[in-house]
Amino acid sequence: MNDESAAALNAQGSQRMSAPHGRSPLNYIFGADQLRGRDIIGIEDLSKEELLLIVQVASDLKQNKFDSTQTQFSKGQTLAMLFEKPSLRTRVTFEAGMTQLGGSAIYLEGQLGIRESVSDVAKNLDRWLDGIMARTFDHETVLQLAANAKVPVINGLSDREHPCQAFADFLTLQEHKGKLEGLKLAFIGDGNNVVNSLMLFAAKIGMHFSIACPRGYEPVKELWDITLELAKTTGSKIVLTDDPIDAVKDADAVYTDTWVSMGQESESEKRIKDFKGFQVNSALLANAKSNVIAMHCLPAHRGYEITDDVLDGNQSVVFDQAENRLHAQKAVIALTL
Ligand code: CP
Ligand code: NVA
Repeated sequence: MNDESAAALNAQGSQRMSAPHGRSPLNYIFGADQLRGRDIIGIEDLSKEELLLIVQVASDLKQNKFDSTQTQFSKGQTLAMLFEKPSLRTRVTFEAGMTQLGGSAIYLEGQLGIRESVSDVAKNLDRWLDGIMARTFDHETVLQLAANAKVPVINGLSDREHPCQAFADFLTLQEHKGKLEGLKLAFIGDGNNVVNSLMLFAAKIGMHFSIACPRGYEPVKELWDITLELAKTTGSKIVLTDDPIDAVKDADAVYTDTWVSMGQESESEKRIKDFKGFQVNSALLANAKSNVIAMHCLPAHRGYEITDDVLDGNQSVVFDQAENRLHAQKAVIALTL
């Protein structure tokens, strides 16, 4: 959404926001239309109420709380899905999500800004479609798309954040633990895009968060500082350590992700050496709460950041997380497009 369209939306006020296209069964939730027309770029841009709204709508969609005439939130709408990097979950769940909501999705692959500028791509898609989801290398590319399209732009993973993963993860935590506030989430591994979204989400809603990573692999300082500031207002305890055992102590959930994110393949050898000792295995989980759950955004690199027995064991909720990508994606689509 560019500045001009944001101003126009504000000028139109609650009438436009409350009855988009005359179809808003989500009105049963007070404030459900506050995300209509908005971009979903990062957890950093969303309020606590907005984050919890997305989780609630995802949960309601999962439980089929809407009758069949109400689930066609996206009837006649089309979403562009731009991918600079590979994907299984994000691609399939956005496409299936659009179909299930009565709309459709168009998959486009390749690096943006090569054949034509990112802004021209955005200005074209904006004339034809109702939304753009993008997975990019540089976060700046998602921002450029958003600045040049009036339709909502959704970040499907950039080098800075992976917000749609976090929506699914917090739905999964809610389902398994019955609450979010006051839980302790521990992350073991690289301070990457997934961590950035998780720690911001935790701090915004009052969840405690610890990360154990090797020195030099901490989350980006700007977002870490924002996380610490947010935590002051919500009471979240936020800890950074290089000791995995310390990080998982009293944890309700232990999360890990690849040591080598997409685009970092040339650093693989060094990273595999540097992350030795930062594996989520059953010996490490024994230091957490007895009912701890193990989480991973997938794809997993079995035998590296997580062992087979943990990934496939009864503490694992990774395939619930994967399933919840579908429900979370549908919530984002229903709330924004
Ligand atoms: N977790 C996740 O985003 O998976 P994909 O890379 O397969 O989309
Ligand atoms: N941190 C990983 C997440 C993949 C879903 C990456 O960026 O490759």
